[in-house]
Amino acid sequence: MRPLRVLAAAVMLAAGLLMVPAATPNPATAIGPLPECKLEDHLTDPRGYDDWATTLVDWNLSVGKDYKPPDLVSVRTGSVGGGGSVRKVAAEDLEAMAAAARKNGTPLVAWSPYRSYSQQEKLFNGYAGWNSETQTYSNFDSAIKFSARPGHSEHQLGVVIDFVAVGDKGLTSNWEVTRTGGWMARNAWKYGWLMSYPKGKQDLVCYSYEPWHYRYYGRELAKKIHDSGLTPREYLWANFTQLDSSFQPVPTPTPVLTPTLVPTPTLLPSTVASQAAVTAGPDATASPTSPAGTWFGLDPAVAIAGILIVLASIGLVFALGRARQRST
Ligand code: DAL
Ligand code: ZN
Repeated sequence: MRPLRVLAAAVMLAAGLLMVPAATPNPATAIGPLPECKLEDHLTDPRGYDDWATTLVDWNLSVGKDYKPPDLVSVRTGSVGGGGSVRKVAAEDLEAMAAAARKNGTPLVAWSPYRSYSQQEKLFNGYAGWNSETQTYSNFDSAIKFSARPGHSEHQLGVVIDFVAVGDKGLTSNWEVTRTGGWMARNAWKYGWLMSYPKGKQDLVCYSYEPWHYRYYGRELAKKIHDSGLTPREYLWANFTQLDSSFQPVPTPTPVLTPTLVPTPTLLPSTVASQAAVTAGPDATASPTSPAGTWFGLDPAVAIAGILIVLASIGLVFALGRARQRST
């Protein structure tokens, strides 16, 4: 009897410890394949001002009318020519990139950096031939290939710049084969900047080729996206966007029960798409979210494991006490 009781207590203790879940819930990422470019109007997620590197906007997804970054500074802070503003988070690497470009003899000029919702609205309506009297567009189908609807532009994020070279009178379609544009295509990623709409990728990125349009991601994430060979839209969707293919929120992640005595962060990708990108090395920085149902602030699995451990410990002490009594 005695050895059996000790064994049972030990088994319960081990079971309790084994049931302690991983400390980090698996991050939620988009469920399902990259959505087709459709002219829809869904609020993107994440879209907090701290999520500037991982917020996806495209034909389908928008940051909404009220999105205005709180820390805009002049592009001059980043020591490029031209005017307008970018978020402060991008200024230091902008300066480093501008200095390297200058050193190469190809200084950068900012043609169009941050654009507010209303600036984008005016721009898009101009391209698309909006007629406020008839409330119709005369050139919508052509405009939407190169200009985003308000709320849908990366320029509204404040971490995008359309660049030109010194002396350029405007954006040039062959910029990537010019000295300045070529330097950017080869080197911008090293400073955290990536071309959003590369050549031949319109089906994937929604817009036609824009060799001048660069978005800042920070050096670490930019390197990962660059090394993955994916377009930024594909990468953000697979690794960070918290929506499914119908643009419904991804269910709140549940903690994973990990069969290990040492709690370790566990990443269980929800989809094949996210699995592929995880292999490519995502920066899984999605903030852990508290599970919906908790017992006194604890996840039920943690609470059960705790109860089992306490019961097993009592049983073990009791069994050992009895054993000592009998042996004396
Ligand atoms: N030209 C890009 C697509 C924009 O308008 O944001
Ligand atoms: Zn642009």
